[in-house]
Amino acid sequence: MKRVLLGVSGGISAYKSAELVSLLIKHDYEVRVVMTTAAMQFIAPLTFQALSGNPVATQLLDENQENSMGHINLARWADVFLIAPATANCIAKLSHGIADDLLSTLYLAAECPVYIAPAMNQAMWHKSITQENSRRLRQQGVGFIGPEAGRQACGDIGLGRMSEPAAILQFLEAQQLPSILHAKKLLITAGPTREALDPVRYISNKSSGKMGYALAEQAQKLGAEVTLISGPVHLPKLNNVKTIFVESAEQMYQAVMQEITGQDIMIAAAAVADYTPKKIASDKIKKQGSTIQLDLEKTQDIVASVANLTDKPFTVGFAAETQDLKQYALGKLQRKKLDMIAANWVAKAEGGFDAEQNALHVFWNGGEKQLEMMHKQVLAKQLLTLIVERIKLL
Ligand code: C5P
Repeated sequence: MKRVLLGVSGGISAYKSAELVSLLIKHDYEVRVVMTTAAMQFIAPLTFQALSGNPVATQLLDENQENSMGHINLARWADVFLIAPATANCIAKLSHGIADDLLSTLYLAAECPVYIAPAMNQAMWHKSITQENSRRLRQQGVGFIGPEAGRQACGDIGLGRMSEPAAILQFLEAQQLPSILHAKKLLITAGPTREALDPVRYISNKSSGKMGYALAEQAQKLGAEVTLISGPVHLPKLNNVKTIFVESAEQMYQAVMQEITGQDIMIAAAAVADYTPKKIASDKIKKQGSTIQLDLEKTQDIVASVANLTDKPFTVGFAAETQDLKQYALGKLQRKKLDMIAANWVAKAEGGFDAEQNALHVFWNGGEKQLEMMHKQVLAKQLLTLIVERIKLL
């Protein structure tokens, strides 16, 4: 993938797209830029023309532009169509097939992979209609890069910043790995579990499922046949991934054991409850004195059960820690008889349970590798690559 068609829609982060173009050029990509009318209010086409070395397309029905590179030709030319920034309006139009300018028409004409880097005010991003439109786009196979959390141009703090150019480049580069997991079967657990106390209450944790879902998505793209056992999460269902939804640790255990035969690799990214109420009260537990005692018992360790099977797959666990990361991770690697363990800090402000980004320290018997803070999709691909490398050496 060397030819990037970059669509720039009208947001303040359009200035970052200039840096993105120069980064892409430095990494030997050929870039052509398409801008919306609103984008031109933020940055001049000449900037992109100078940086990309190619004329910038801005009009759908412009005789000169149509002659040089008509919209269908431009769509055919591209190996990848990247839209950065993608505004709420742009996402709304694309998700409904509205093609009233060059950029949105190109989306309909493009047969190559499409990736978008959303950028907007946090309230606009969280608005349910924007979420619904994004879900529709994801279902159509559009890859999302970000948005990221942080301080916004308008002064708000929240989710909606466009991913940094370096992160976008990293994401594109990560899309180009060959099918290293072709014909491999992967079982992945993701998300939290819910341990019911009574008909309305449960014990759970902060896991968002993003890491496990990113692993499933990337493994599928790398050619694997993926089964995902998912706890309750707020993430869109993945295309071409067999997904089984469960609630409790016990249900997750049963589902894993049901699916484990014939799997080549098992990755336990779920944050499984370690303890579960001994009894689920049949009626809502009544308020009593100033304290209440909960009687909990240990759940079955799913990943350890898999690692103990005679015909066990290559088994990878996760260790979410708030202290002594290495010591605890290595302890789990030995105790659970894992082939690899990916450890991360969950007490830090960035990274961890609900973040878009994460960093992992991966350990195996006789080796370790640090994977720096990066987008979970990119991190997932790097972890999968590491797993493949280890399997080859075994
Ligand atoms: O011991 P700890 O819960 O920290 O271990 C974490 C690893 O073990 C994760 O990979 C998690 O998915 C897995 N695990 C499991 N079943 C449990 C508890 C943890 O598979 N009951």
